[in-house]
Amino acid sequence: MTDLNQTTLQARLAARPFQFFVIIDSTNDIAMRWLNDGAEAGSVVIADEQLKGRGRMGRTWHTPPGVAIAMSVILKPPVEFANRVSMLGALVVAELCEGVGAKNVGIKYPNDVQIDGRKVCGVLPEASWEHHQLQGVVLGMGVNVRVQFDEQLAQTATNLETAARRDLNRVELIAYLLTRIDTWAATIHTMDFFSAWKNRLNTIGQRVTIGDISGVAEDVDSSGVLLVRTANNQLERVIAGDVLLTGE
Ligand code: BTN
Repeated sequence: MTDLNQTTLQARLAARPFQFFVIIDSTNDIAMRWLNDGAEAGSVVIADEQLKGRGRMGRTWHTPPGVAIAMSVILKPPVEFANRVSMLGALVVAELCEGVGAKNVGIKYPNDVQIDGRKVCGVLPEASWEHHQLQGVVLGMGVNVRVQFDEQLAQTATNLETAARRDLNRVELIAYLLTRIDTWAATIHTMDFFSAWKNRLNTIGQRVTIGDISGVAEDVDSSGVLLVRTANNQLERVIAGDVLLTGE
């Protein structure tokens, strides 16, 4: 019996509006349609398996059945803090990792959650606008729980159950994530929120290459812009590209 289905979710999520799919192309697509049809903040789309899961920068995201969390939460943040939604996704998964006993949890800028330097979660925020007005943001989250990685992926990816050293129940994990999302969504404008995210960043102090900028990641400002000190001592402002750690 699978740990994630309509009945177990219904029992655990109670009054929260949710849609569950055994198999779907992408939970983000369904959530975006639901948002545009008037879904309330906090509504969530969950799938056991995705056929066309999407990752950042046009990549695909693989969600095989029975082994991961694929969910998309509809949020309605103040427009000036909409760019913090991806931070929120990373923050709640980092908290989840810590909560199940993982050591060495960090957020690789901008929003990959890592355990021992290996990726356990990816976050894909997508905004909906109408006449220059923000309708809401779909926060897509993919968490590896017990995925069988091929040899190559196993070098860079990991599972929550590996870190927890025990079986985990995906419905319980989802319920925890949603509770933490509710809490942080209500405080997304605060320094507490920003500090909680920043304190978990493991990129500060590292040598990085982002696009054609290389240097040492020195700090991050409150809008999430990474400040990189280059070899000629300039401080460059870099926004959420893919960060390549380039070591010594
Ligand atoms: C990344 O590239 O790191 C982001 C991956 C985001 C994957 C999640 S899984 C649930 C949601 N639906 C999608 O199609 N993508 C996101």
